[in-house]
Amino acid sequence: MKYSIINIKTIEAEQCGRISFFEGLHDLPFEIKRIYYISGVPEGKMRGFHAHKTLQQLLFCPYGEIEIILDSGEDREHIILNRPDQGILLTSGLWREMLWKKSDSVLCVAASDFYDPEDYIRDYDRFLAFRKS
Ligand code: TYD
Repeated sequence: MKYSIINIKTIEAEQCGRISFFEGLHDLPFEIKRIYYISGVPEGKMRGFHAHKTLQQLLFCPYGEIEIILDSGEDREHIILNRPDQGILLTSGLWREMLWKKSDSVLCVAASDFYDPEDYIRDYDRFLAFRKS
């Protein structure tokens, strides 16, 4: 399974919250070309159900709790994102499903490329064939 959990640099201010930050190429193995975030999802709902052919991404959840289910075609792993100082670095070719464990949790993504619908694999059988090829 090609992913890693990374610590996002975070500085705490006494009784005044914290600030977290990362930079493309310095803290991630790619230049950041796109940021997007998913909000307003009710508890218990799932999104995702796709893989990317080439896209690399950092997923993080600065507010709330989201379960990320990663599938390599052989193994499935479940990772909880619920800390502003933690992220999952995903290489391409992994099927992902995201479960909102708490309403209004925000999933943020820093991506290595611009939006390209051709980079998506949205059919699980096609994903398995892609993994074998
Ligand atoms: P999608 O990636 O399928 O979201 P999820 O995996 O969470 O269900 O995107 C949902 C819609 O948003 C889809 O119509 C494509 C569009 N979209 C963009 O236009 N640009 C983007 O950068 C992203 C991430 C999605």
